[in-house]
Amino acid sequence: MTFYITTPIYYANSLPHLGHLYTMIVADTIARQKRQQGIETFFLTGTDEHGINIERSAQRNHRTPQEQADYVVNYYTKMTDTFALDTAHGGYDIFMRTTNSFHHEGVSELWRRIAKAKTPKGNDALYKGHYEGWFCAACAEYKSEDEYAKPANPGDPPACLVHDTKLDRVSEESYFFRLSDYDEALLRLYEEPGFVRPEGRRNEVKSFVSGGLQDLSVSRLRTSVSWGVPVPDDPNHTMYVWFDALTNYITAIGFGNEQQNRAVGFEKFWPALHVMGKDILRFHAVYWPSFLMAAGIEQPRGIYAHGMWLDPNGRKMSKTLGNTIELDVLQAHFSIDAIRYFCLREMVFGQDGRFGYENLIDRTNSDLASGLGNLSSRTLTMIHRYREGRVPSGKISDEGVLSAKRAGVDNDDMAIASFVEHARDEFIRHFEDFAFSRALEEAWGIVARTDKMISDAKPWDLAKDPGQAQTLNAVLYRAAESLRWLCVLLYPVIPNAAREIYKQLGLDQDLGAISPKQLNWGELEEGVQIGEVKPLFPRIDKAKLMSEIKSEDKPEASQPEAVTELQQAAGSGQHVTEADAVPGVAYIDISDFAKIDLRVGEVLTAERIPKADKLLLITVDIGEEKPRQILAGIAQYYEPEKLIGRKIVVVSNLKPRKMRGYESQGMLLAASIGEEGKPVLATFTEEVPNGARLK
Ligand code: MSP
Repeated sequence: MTFYITTPIYYANSLPHLGHLYTMIVADTIARQKRQQGIETFFLTGTDEHGINIERSAQRNHRTPQEQADYVVNYYTKMTDTFALDTAHGGYDIFMRTTNSFHHEGVSELWRRIAKAKTPKGNDALYKGHYEGWFCAACAEYKSEDEYAKPANPGDPPACLVHDTKLDRVSEESYFFRLSDYDEALLRLYEEPGFVRPEGRRNEVKSFVSGGLQDLSVSRLRTSVSWGVPVPDDPNHTMYVWFDALTNYITAIGFGNEQQNRAVGFEKFWPALHVMGKDILRFHAVYWPSFLMAAGIEQPRGIYAHGMWLDPNGRKMSKTLGNTIELDVLQAHFSIDAIRYFCLREMVFGQDGRFGYENLIDRTNSDLASGLGNLSSRTLTMIHRYREGRVPSGKISDEGVLSAKRAGVDNDDMAIASFVEHARDEFIRHFEDFAFSRALEEAWGIVARTDKMISDAKPWDLAKDPGQAQTLNAVLYRAAESLRWLCVLLYPVIPNAAREIYKQLGLDQDLGAISPKQLNWGELEEGVQIGEVKPLFPRIDKAKLMSEIKSEDKPEASQPEAVTELQQAAGSGQHVTEADAVPGVAYIDISDFAKIDLRVGEVLTAERIPKADKLLLITVDIGEEKPRQILAGIAQYYEPEKLIGRKIVVVSNLKPRKMRGYESQGMLLAASIGEEGKPVLATFTEEVPNGARLK
């Protein structure tokens, strides 16, 4: 038996964030659970590297598109290593890149097949036509009238409702996929149980398709978009990036390339379960199944669209609002297991979730530190203390029955055994339905039940009475056995902690290969020597950690970098800002002013810096041989793209300074407005050459 699971392949034009991490965690958890059951599993993630958007961001950053993709991929692989999601840590099996040559071969093969195919209504599936309309580069999607905002000024392009960026006008020859002929076939497909999940999303897709489908433009002229896979036998056309990207799911396992097929196995692993955010469900549930139908390829096993992460107040996360969750803050302060647990516990099936550091701390403290961690340490510590570290027998002999009854302990373990078995069954049922939150509630039901059993039986009192030795044994055994079950159930979600508890229990099998379905109550062996008890989830001091997280944000806090640095440059901190207008300020001499070398510069590139909400990394031509690299604290007020080509003023003789690992070789001049110090960059209204000195 095999199983194939995929995440989306992420755009290689911007850096990874919590949302990307989340889908990988979900897929990784599912993959681990399948592997536990002995199912040979293939787990794909990767990057989507073609198209106009990547071409443009490469241009802005003075990179080739391939360099741009490599640059972003580097961040992705760093993330997967840090969060233990890569192959070395038992995570994904392939990091797919659409620039792989075997992928080109595979996509071309799919295209050729579709080019020969007939639709269910007997027409050619592919035809050449003319496309006239609007395209959003960031969505990589053509937009119909109800999907864009009309411009304020007639003649301007409309704006994308998702990205609020201007749309591109496309008017050119294009290949079309005859999507309009696939509506009935798709609607039949959606009737297959579990094909699109959750139910609410299936209904959305159904009503979209029932409303009628338009044919889909699946190529652009090479003169408009050159960074992509050429259309076979018509290299003047480049394939539409979504056609190219979706196909990665089959090329990765060997469709259209013999070598890759030998290495992985298309027949062996297809069909896949596709996991993605609801934002891109339509591509997966409408376009992709139609392409597959046309090519005569089996449909995916299922399509699961999860919700999106919002901030604790339910707002979309955005750099401008400053409410994003930073991967490096997560990594610095939280264990991987705490992050995984939170992600899976907090996002309710089918809904959006709220992610804030405070909620994460609360959950870590309550469910992990006080819940599972405490149950584990109290159970194991008592086995050490009362039974010299050996798992005692769970049996109560006939003679012991009365004593047990007196202590309020069941003389057999049926009650707890059937509770735990039922919870296990429910856990599996919810898990297979992607209702991870519900599954985890079931597992924590076991934690609560076991905790209560211990508190009711009071082992510390039983230990004082030699006549209660068997009763105490039974309580300790039952607690340890529940812990063993929890380790097996929770391994896919919190692999590290589960392994650690298992080890502390004195067990050494590979949790990654024990199926929860095969657990039998009572199989924990008597006499097992338990290991050293170590804390698993130290309690987090919420106030302290929150203030640390906030202060880490400080270096680029409210005062824009530009102004602060300018003050430092001037020496006394008061000379060259708005303060000049304030009466009573000491005058400077012209020679003081002459110390500052101000130059006209032109912004060549500007980009955000990971982990630094307020900083932009800018390169500026100030008439020198090489452009200057400058860090400016203006990211909250200026979109990097909009700065490119702008003339600005640079303090060029400021001592270089390292910030966030980058050297800043100068400073931009800006007015500082209002209490928050909103920066407004100084500029020129007339033509000025780069490098001209300001006097
Ligand atoms: N390149 C396309 C996918 C092609 S798949 C053949 C793409 N890339 S993306 O970089 O924009 O990634 C989108 C995906 O990232 C979402 O579908 C989801 O899996 C994940 N997320 C991005 N932001 C997210 C949240 N705020 N919350 C949860 N998941 C999020 O679309």
